[in-house]
Amino acid sequence: MSSDLFRAARDAMRRAHAPYSKFPVGAALRTQDGRVYAGANIEVASYPEGWCAETTALGHYVMGGGGPIAEIAVVAEKMDRITPCGGCRQRLAEFASPDTLLHLCDQDGIVETVTMGEMLPKGFAGDILK
Ligand code: THU
Repeated sequence: MSSDLFRAARDAMRRAHAPYSKFPVGAALRTQDGRVYAGANIEVASYPEGWCAETTALGHYVMGGGGPIAEIAVVAEKMDRITPCGGCRQRLAEFASPDTLLHLCDQDGIVETVTMGEMLPKGFAGDILK
């Protein structure tokens, strides 16, 4: 199952629009009820307006109905065992739980699995804002 998620992330990475950094990234997540949403990074000529692969995947996930997330995979063409950037850790944590699995990949598959709690310890949570 997790290897399917790696492949979804790798397939998404091939659709990256990264003409400036030339650093394609792919991300995929699986909901607890089995839906898979994937995305790639999308860059624009005004550099700060681009966004990350994880963010694209989260957009698909929210539009697809959201729900509890079981696992997430991230892969980059030019970096083995990529970890999500700080902003994406926060975005993923908005919808995941501290127990959600995060698979860090190289070109051939998953090389390390951590939890979201390990990836974003002591993160800011929005409970107090509600
Ligand atoms: N990038 C991601 O897509 N996800 C990350 O977690 C790290 C960085 C993208 C953003 C930009 O398009 C490129 O990688 C280089 O920073």
